[in-house]
Amino acid sequence: MNLRIRNCPMVDAELEIGGDKSITHRALMLGALAEGRTEIKGYSRCRDCRTTMKVLRNLGVSIEEEDDKIIIQGNGRYGFSEPEDLLDCENSGTTMRLLSGILSGQKFYSVLIGDNSLRKRPMDRIIIPLQRMGAQIMARNHNRFPPISIRGGNLKGIRYELPVASAQVKSSILLAGLYTDGVIVKEPSPTRDHTERLLNLFGLRLLEKENEIVLDKPSRELKSQHLIIPGDISSASFFMVMGAIVGPRIRLMNVGLNPTRTGIIDILKKMGLKVVIENRKEVCNEPVGDILVETDRRLNPITVSGSMIPKLIDELPVLAVAATQADGISVIKDAKELRLKETDRIKAIVQGLRAMNARIQETPDGFVIEGPNRLRGARCNSFGDHRIAMSLAVAGLCAEGETTIEDGECINISFPEFMTNVKRICGEAAIEDNV
Ligand code: S3P
Repeated sequence: MNLRIRNCPMVDAELEIGGDKSITHRALMLGALAEGRTEIKGYSRCRDCRTTMKVLRNLGVSIEEEDDKIIIQGNGRYGFSEPEDLLDCENSGTTMRLLSGILSGQKFYSVLIGDNSLRKRPMDRIIIPLQRMGAQIMARNHNRFPPISIRGGNLKGIRYELPVASAQVKSSILLAGLYTDGVIVKEPSPTRDHTERLLNLFGLRLLEKENEIVLDKPSRELKSQHLIIPGDISSASFFMVMGAIVGPRIRLMNVGLNPTRTGIIDILKKMGLKVVIENRKEVCNEPVGDILVETDRRLNPITVSGSMIPKLIDELPVLAVAATQADGISVIKDAKELRLKETDRIKAIVQGLRAMNARIQETPDGFVIEGPNRLRGARCNSFGDHRIAMSLAVAGLCAEGETTIEDGECINISFPEFMTNVKRICGEAAIEDNV
């Protein structure tokens, strides 16, 4: 399916953003690991989270969707059964990497597969520590790529220094750690800590000091919970950037403001935008608030590097779009992890924005943008990557003429409400599918 996007002359709106994808994955998994009934409201209805639900069901967990909530009957850490068939993680790296941690604690045999994109994503980053803990794991191409087969059980605790800052790897080790007398994970720089916050909510006590997360003697079973998931700041970022480059203002309600995820807010402020947080509260052991973005359309260029990168790794493609409208040279570096996402996001965003007349250069670990650029509508490819499709759609909304984005249905992977929201803000004609 192709998307067609037309210029949107003005954005002045208020939006409620769907539930956070990262937190929903973890809530589903911890609900399955806990003993008793867990309820989850405000969850993400995206395809990736549905994939996690399906895989958990294939492991014998009862999960029902009722009106506005998900109900999980957890049977404890050992309450899973051996799957009869392959576990298809489709496009979802979070599903595959986090579940591998849980499956490493199970005595039975399981095989995880994925789609074309997931089969190209590195799994040695979880396989190495999980093997060190005692799981028997094999994977394709010298234990590097999916499919992955796991026979777990009899794990021992480890102290592990992550070679790359990755919340998925950290979480995989912490989840496997539930089957040991403790693990310590050291991060090169802080990454999203939703797993730690949720494990605490489910009754464990994790300690954190100097980038080290300590899970000590997790012998108790997790206690089932009633959860409300905050809005997804990564989904909100597409609309924050629309507020920034189209303007004059947008208000995004009930968005998660976990400090490991708010890099996009810090950078938009550095670009000279007015970003105000209102109605702060705590939900699901996570900070939440409304984000108001206002612009007078003069944007400063930015440099983003180092420990800032993990705080906005998923927002870098849409930040590139914002940088095309800044007055000067913006530099994104230390972001080579972008090449290992659903597609090579450095190549994909550079190719897409160039087609739209942006002055953007690829570098080995990021890109350089020389703004401001008058974007022109063009035909671009999403490469089946949801964040590339939505970033190019935002660029199309501020470009002259029409933009066509090939392979656009992938937006459902993280943000099924994206199209409806764009139509609400910019009118029915601003975005069309099936063209
Ligand atoms: C995620 C962590 C990040 C992020 C991904 C979701 C998570 O990946 O890019 O979209 O839910 O833990 P890495 O762990 O590979 O950095």
